[in-house]
Amino acid sequence: MKTIPNEFTRFAHDGWQRVADKYDSVWSRVTRQFIPYLIDAAGVLAGMPVLDVACGPGYVSAAVKKLGANPTGIDFSKKMVEIATKMFPGITFREGDAQELPVRDASYDRVLMNFGLLHLSQPERACAEAFRVLRSGGKFGFTIWAEPHENPGGKIVNDAIEAHADLNVEMPEGPSKFLYADKEKCRKILERDGFDGKSVVFETDLVEWNVPTPYYLFEAERDAGVRTAGLLARQSSDRLDAIRRAIEDGVGRYAKRDGFAIPMAAHVIVASKCM
Ligand SMILES: C[S@@+](CC[C@H](N)C(=O)[O-])C[C@H]1O[C@@H](n2cnc3c(N)ncnc32)[C@H](O)[C@@H]1O
Repeated sequence: MKTIPNEFTRFAHDGWQRVADKYDSVWSRVTRQFIPYLIDAAGVLAGMPVLDVACGPGYVSAAVKKLGANPTGIDFSKKMVEIATKMFPGITFREGDAQELPVRDASYDRVLMNFGLLHLSQPERACAEAFRVLRSGGKFGFTIWAEPHENPGGKIVNDAIEAHADLNVEMPEGPSKFLYADKEKCRKILERDGFDGKSVVFETDLVEWNVPTPYYLFEAERDAGVRTAGLLARQSSDRLDAIRRAIEDGVGRYAKRDGFAIPMAAHVIVASKCM
């Protein structure tokens, strides 16, 4: 598969290949909850060709297919593509880099990306690719996690890392995790990629992630994540213990009778390609 040959992409690719078989059981109960918001904001209709970029196990494709649209899923992880094909056998999934889509110009009515954009080394390039493969009048919709001040679950992990991690460890440099989290900046970036700035829809949605134990979130990040997992893997055992305790305390604040309900907020963003 053709990928952008840089250190962050290689790091991310190795990471997603490593955790692909854990993704569905660990993360999908939170990421899938945003799909109805994404589909609704992007106005997906029956009969539309839809490209599901960074599709992972294929949930967005499956959801738009239920509406009568014609999805194709693309992911740079061969394992993710295999899992998606097994989970949703009636849908086409293929390998490909979001930053260099193996897709003809102007061939889709919608390009959707649920929690994929900020896992890429060059998110702007992926937006430009989405623009290229959209027909005129088409829409690009994506989700990203909201910043910690708006996202209680994200804040738990962020605060624990800021307080206890050594941030000077060597890591492949990736994009800012909150590159698109400010509405105005986001609009300007999308405009630069060719989208109609006036068309940008930027909403914030909140869901509850029900987890069984206070250590679930730490273990999810350590064992089934990629970027944060890379940072955690480079910490001393004392620092790692302190991060784990801080995350457990944070999750503990959201205890309910049969587990923990972590509030998680994300932005749903949609931009149109002018006619
Ligand atoms: C957080 S998961 C999101 C999965 C899925 N879209 C969902 O709704 O849960 C991120 C996905 O992005 C994929 N990915 C990361 N970098 C990519 C790239 N450069 N090109 C294509 N896929 C990529 C990973 O393999 C992974 O499946």
